[in-house]
Amino acid sequence: MPRGTPSFSITTMPTVTVTRRLRFNAAHRLHNPALSDQENADLFEKCNNPNWHGHNYVLEVAVEGPIDERTGYVIDLSVLKSIVQHEVIDRVDHRNLNVDVEFMRGVNPTAENIVVACWRVLERHVAPGRLRRLRLWETENNYVEYERG
Ligand code: NI
Repeated sequence: MPRGTPSFSITTMPTVTVTRRLRFNAAHRLHNPALSDQENADLFEKCNNPNWHGHNYVLEVAVEGPIDERTGYVIDLSVLKSIVQHEVIDRVDHRNLNVDVEFMRGVNPTAENIVVACWRVLERHVAPGRLRRLRLWETENNYVEYERG
């Protein structure tokens, strides 16, 4: 083996998952227009408040891939931070998720629906890594996850 060649072969190159956490604040209202106002009120209770309410969201973005031989990284976490900041955070932070955010148009902004919408936005931007998991914290106690199946 030539001097300086890493001791991994291509076939054994470890796949590693790296995660970056970012925060945003946003308003929303849970409401399904296919249901009556009373059904929405019964289903979503205070989250159906017509004049919105807000959350301090935390989004954790996990990217998997082989370790790059030159850098030793899967993806530079400062690069990942910039991608998520540009593609998601700048578009949702201090916005109303029901009315201000193009990629949430027509979507009832539950944490579940937000995390799937974020996945669709981010998926194509993390190459050569692959999106592995998104975790969205809506409160200190509640989070949802969406993972590559
Ligand atoms: Ni809420």
